[in-house]
Amino acid sequence: MVGSGRRSLVVGRWIRALTVGALLLGSAQLLADRGKNIYERNCVACHRKLPVALDKFFFNYLLKYSSERRVKEALQRFLKHPTKKKALASEELINQYGLMPKTELSDTELRRAIDTYWETYKVFGKIK
Ligand code: HEC
Repeated sequence: MVGSGRRSLVVGRWIRALTVGALLLGSAQLLADRGKNIYERNCVACHRKLPVALDKFFFNYLLKYSSERRVKEALQRFLKHPTKKKALASEELINQYGLMPKTELSDTELRRAIDTYWETYKVFGKIK
């Protein structure tokens, strides 16, 4: 039964390839979910109390810094060390609500939160 032996070998390879594929997809999804959770629990939770929505802030950064890399770098810089000089928010808002407190997230968590923030509001690929 040489033929069926070879067939089951081929089937075995397929199953292995499918399993690896599913695992890879699963872990990518897991990472995306984790970023989303951090963003929702940290950023959105606090920002809900503000009169200016997170998307307004995002567009200020997009207008000023344009590219994905520069927007994300500027966000990282501000969120880790907010200063009035760096802030793009209006003076009235900052006077009333104070400067954003320095983030308590780790660098990795912050990066994931910013990735989610970017994915949520980036305009590219959404304009038809
Ligand atoms: C404890 C409350 C709090 C948390 C947590 C928080 N923010 Fe803020 N954030 C604020 C306040 C208040 C302001 C408005 C004053 C200012 O701009 O500094 C602000 C301002 C901002 C701005 C505008 C900054 C600027 O240039 O003026 C951005 C962008 C922003 N937040 C994004 C985020 C993201 C992304 C997260 C999550 C990683 C986050 N915030 C978490 C309170 C918070």
